[in-house]
Amino acid sequence: MVGVFWGRRMLAGRVWIPTYASEATDCLMKDLLIPDWDEVWRRKLALNRSTPAFREGADLWGDREQARRYAARLASDHARRVAETLRDLSVAPGDRVLDIGSGPGTLALPLARAGASVTAVEPAEGMLAELRAAAEREGLTTITTLRGLWGEVDPVRDLAPPYDRVVASFSLTMPDIRSALAAMNAAASESGSVHLYWFADEPLWERLYLALWEDLHGAPYHPRPKADCLFNVLYAMGIYANVLMRPMGDAATFATVEDAVDHFAPRMSVKSPRQREVLRDYFREHLARQDGGLALPGTSTYAAIWWRKRRC
Ligand SMILES: C[S@@+](CC[C@H](N)C(=O)[O-])C[C@H]1O[C@@H](n2cnc3c(N)ncnc32)[C@H](O)[C@@H]1O
Repeated sequence: MVGVFWGRRMLAGRVWIPTYASEATDCLMKDLLIPDWDEVWRRKLALNRSTPAFREGADLWGDREQARRYAARLASDHARRVAETLRDLSVAPGDRVLDIGSGPGTLALPLARAGASVTAVEPAEGMLAELRAAAEREGLTTITTLRGLWGEVDPVRDLAPPYDRVVASFSLTMPDIRSALAAMNAAASESGSVHLYWFADEPLWERLYLALWEDLHGAPYHPRPKADCLFNVLYAMGIYANVLMRPMGDAATFATVEDAVDHFAPRMSVKSPRQREVLRDYFREHLARQDGGLALPGTSTYAAIWWRKRRC
């Protein structure tokens, strides 16, 4: 970010002091140094998607088995960040929540239990099926679902804004991130807020992809754009968001090396025996004992970014 003191000037050949930007040099900085963060996001995402055999969104989560696996691991792998998110959202009974990329109901289910009315927008049929089945099992009647991609649904036509809370938790895969964020802001009520959750650095699974993709698929993995882009896109929109960095916590644990292979193989498009052996070798060498199971070592950080609705 560029603040007021953007530049430095040499004084007496020794000391560097900050100087205010003049209009002319300010333009220069804009042309030369300030990235168009919207474009940075778009390009990084395009590069990420150009990774051969990379799976995401409806391609990955449309598969009911993958959705079931994600749902089954919520209590173990995601408990901490879900509790943190629910505290952030702090809903009251009757509040209306728009949950963008709800997955199997990670947030929608506990929010509905807390008395909120939740609209879940989710493109993957597998995830939606998990969410609907869980809601039915529990008799939760205040969750509405809409199958679609944020960026393609028309909030005014397809939804019923305004919402007290708009949340997108680890679902920010929209190429036109500026429009996507503007639409989230527009969907919030006058006293409402928008909450984003996204990676600040490479999560453990992405580090695994970076280490193995070339060996598995003959080309490198390109990581996703991170939270720095989101903050800066918002800033350029005049939305000065609050940002909190948190440890991801709750590393995925596996009973055996083979369980880890089974977990990651479909996500990493691993099909052949040779590819499975690459994964197996890596896990044999790298999985570490943790909480009575085996886990990838290391920690990662996620960003909780939120703002009160901005009138544009
Ligand atoms: C990693 S899961 C996260 C699920 C849940 N929000 C959570 O916090 O656990 C990402 C979800 O976002 C959905 N998704 C991806 N792109 C999306 C988009 N453009 N609009 C809405 N949902 C999207 C995926 O289908 C997937 O279910």
